[in-house]
Amino acid sequence: MTLPVSSRFPFTADLSICSILNGMWQVSGAHGAIDPARAVEAMFAHHDAGFTTWDLADHYGPAEDLIGAFRRRFAASRGVEPLAEIQAFTKCVPHPGRMTRRVAEDAVGVSRRRMGVDRLDLLQFHWWDYADRGYLDALKHLADLRDEGQIRHLALTNFDTERLRIIADHGIGVVSNQVQYSLVDRRPETRMAPFCREHGITFLAYGALLGGLLSEKYLGRGEPQRSELNTASLQKYKNMIDAWGGWTLFQELLAVLKDIADKHRVGIANVGVRYVLDRPSVAGVIVGARLGITEHLTDNARVFGFSLDDSDLALIETVLGKSRDLMTVIGDCGDEYR
Ligand SMILES: NC(=O)c1ccc[n+]([C@@H]2O[C@H](COP(=O)([O-])OP(=O)(O)OC[C@H]3O[C@@H](n4cnc5c(N)ncnc54)[C@H](OP(=O)(O)O)[C@@H]3O)[C@@H](O)[C@H]2O)c1
Repeated sequence: MTLPVSSRFPFTADLSICSILNGMWQVSGAHGAIDPARAVEAMFAHHDAGFTTWDLADHYGPAEDLIGAFRRRFAASRGVEPLAEIQAFTKCVPHPGRMTRRVAEDAVGVSRRRMGVDRLDLLQFHWWDYADRGYLDALKHLADLRDEGQIRHLALTNFDTERLRIIADHGIGVVSNQVQYSLVDRRPETRMAPFCREHGITFLAYGALLGGLLSEKYLGRGEPQRSELNTASLQKYKNMIDAWGGWTLFQELLAVLKDIADKHRVGIANVGVRYVLDRPSVAGVIVGARLGITEHLTDNARVFGFSLDDSDLALIETVLGKSRDLMTVIGDCGDEYR
């Protein structure tokens, strides 16, 4: 299997990515035990199928080390030059405290060492508490490290529109904001998308599959008990469904998506990813990969073989129109973390 050219997205002038990124929160331990050797094997399978872009974080368990191990084996068997085919996007999620140059430098240094790279392709910065304006200090130091060559591009995750504006006003350039974005959570398009378009910032979307709930597996099923939701991801997005409109409305959505999927000879998950990929300013959708446990490569490749038409979008809208407005219920992107 090789992905078509349409799977690539010009993320920045110097970085082409696969617009379905492999999400590595799923190796953190909260989604089943990961065997490192099997995980690295699975990483080769993803890469060779064309899924060359990884999303990880400093706090996703062994994720950065797995990138390091993958790169080492890759270089040993294929040479150093083809390492440039791999894009690995990590995150910096600092503990609260004073954001000195030293703190930023140490964080970047640890990630570079673990991943075995001289320069991080993308560093996505997260911050817990907006009342602490230390995020501006941290971002200034990270921007300096970028200018010095330790980071290729600086980005954000889970920042709201108000803070994006403050960061832009301080002259700190970022290329993307990683946010939850799905058929159930369309908050990014309310306030943030127009701002992003104006400032040349793209979205990397997570949660498009609601941890796997957006699939045939849950179509026609009664509301799952908490104990059945055996990954952190399933639990997180079940909460989101509850806030959005509940299980009955979600079943209505799955039924409509199934009709659309059948029409295009794809699956419900494919429709969910395609929908988000087509939204304004979306550079990529991150699909979580339980490396070495489950595998959806061939299925996810089908996202690049069809498009949604106006009648599909109108059908989807008939269901989404009945849901609650998450901007009102939760707030802007990322507010669920604060
Ligand atoms: N910045 C942040 O705060 C943040 C937060 C959450 C996630 N993320 C990022 O986003 C990534 C995605 O994580 P997520 O939690 O949002 O999960 P997700 O991508 O919504 O769901 C991933 C799960 O969906 C299922 N799946 C994948 N492809 C499928 C297909 N074709 N058909 C049916 N099911 C399929 C798999 O479940 P099974 O394994 O059970 O088959 C997989 O584990 C994370 O790894 C992380 O990189 C970032």
